[in-house]
Amino acid sequence: MPAPTETTSPQPPRHLVVVANRLPVRRVGESWERSPGGLVSALEPAVRTSRTSWVGWTGVPDEPLDAFEHEGVDLRPVVVSADELQRFYEGFSNGTLWPLYHDAIFVPTFQEDWWEAYQAVNRRFAERTAEVASPGATVWVHDYQLQLVPAMLRELRPDLRIGFFLHIPFPAQELFLRLPWRTEVVRGLLGADVVGFQTSVGADNFRLVARRLLGARIEARTLVHAGGRTRVGTYPVGIDAERIREIAESPDTVRRAREIRAELGEPDTLLLGVDRLDYTKGIEVRLRALRALLDEGRVDPGRTVFVQIAQPSRDDAPGYAETRTLVEQMAGSINGDFGGIGAAVVQYLHQGQDLEELVALYRAADVMLVTPFRDGMNLVAKEYVAAQVDLDGVLILSEFAGAAHQMKQAVLVNPFDVRGLEAAMDEAVNGDRKVHRRRMALLRRAVFRDDAAWWAREFLDALERRSDPPPPPVPGSSDTGATHADPIGSGLVGRA
Ligand code: F6P
Repeated sequence: MPAPTETTSPQPPRHLVVVANRLPVRRVGESWERSPGGLVSALEPAVRTSRTSWVGWTGVPDEPLDAFEHEGVDLRPVVVSADELQRFYEGFSNGTLWPLYHDAIFVPTFQEDWWEAYQAVNRRFAERTAEVASPGATVWVHDYQLQLVPAMLRELRPDLRIGFFLHIPFPAQELFLRLPWRTEVVRGLLGADVVGFQTSVGADNFRLVARRLLGARIEARTLVHAGGRTRVGTYPVGIDAERIREIAESPDTVRRAREIRAELGEPDTLLLGVDRLDYTKGIEVRLRALRALLDEGRVDPGRTVFVQIAQPSRDDAPGYAETRTLVEQMAGSINGDFGGIGAAVVQYLHQGQDLEELVALYRAADVMLVTPFRDGMNLVAKEYVAAQVDLDGVLILSEFAGAAHQMKQAVLVNPFDVRGLEAAMDEAVNGDRKVHRRRMALLRRAVFRDDAAWWAREFLDALERRSDPPPPPVPGSSDTGATHADPIGSGLVGRA
């Protein structure tokens, strides 16, 4: 009789819980399909090696749904009511935080009942996550809609590893300090073991406000505070560059790109913008610069087309309808003054497009305009670069997009300087092709190296490396720690 072989029981895969405002799926007819967007593909490698749950909202108010599985991920819907949609999503998330964190280029509204809804919805997300997470699980919370979740969850489940990543900019102190609930927000974030930002500027801004408002001590990359230690790092989000390259090289895309140019009347120059219709994106500044170039006769309206895809977004949040009106008036006025029958200079589409069509547009375009006044990263800039398989396109990129920190070889512009943008557009259209091709090759190298999978791995590795157990609470730690706080800020510390 053969001796029994010794077996070691396989390690159970760790449990990863992703917490994001939206679930990674959207409803199509009776079934669900994966939503477009980087987060889902960025997490794919992690999902393959872990048991993954995803806590989020379907995007439809008052929709009570049981947990369900999609592509191997356990989805845990959170209900958001119609009233909360208005006060939590359109209100505090997109009428207060979004404009404030984007340098207040649209004036943020501070409203107590929005803040109350924000707290209530964050608490619901934290409670749902606490129910779902296995003992010792790794939880990764995403973005500005859920900044209170880390501390709420830490209180409910001290055994968890908690990471938080902010996809949008974290503003300068002077702006952040306007927020009447600033201390609560910082305290919420400090519930995490690791807080990640897109750029080092965001990370520095956060360290400074944590010191000023809560007396946190800055020890290299770590903040030491009354609730423990939080590592603060920079993790610039990437894209699934290989997927974009595959689509860009497919014969269908090549055919469609040719077809697009033909449908546009074979222009000499095709300029492109692809954005959510949002006041942060600087769509109007491109139109202003184009208008000036046309007025001055530096661009031939018969030989140039500017395609602007403006994906509908947050229609009922403050500022969005006004931005739409402005952009549409400007596009209409350029076409009225410079277009011909069947020959619009600006082709404006207020519609979303699928990824295949976008990549065909990227391949068809000579110049890509990414000119936000402020942007956390801007993945469109990276997608455009990944699609330039023949190195032909030129990327014009705002200095105020997080992407500019990594993409120095783009034609960088200040979107508040219309003259500068005109010059950049001129350079992109008429400059030395060889120089532009060399720059594109360098850009591509970085976009393929620091891709979405790299980003997720870097963040999750930092979270896994969290070794030090939280220190015992400091007596009186529930207070703002005014004795540790920066004396210059003492008049500002505490709840305003
Ligand atoms: O850029 C921030 C972000 O929340 C992204 O994560 C998301 O894809 C986008 O804005 C759209 O936001 P919303 O969920 O409001 O449609």
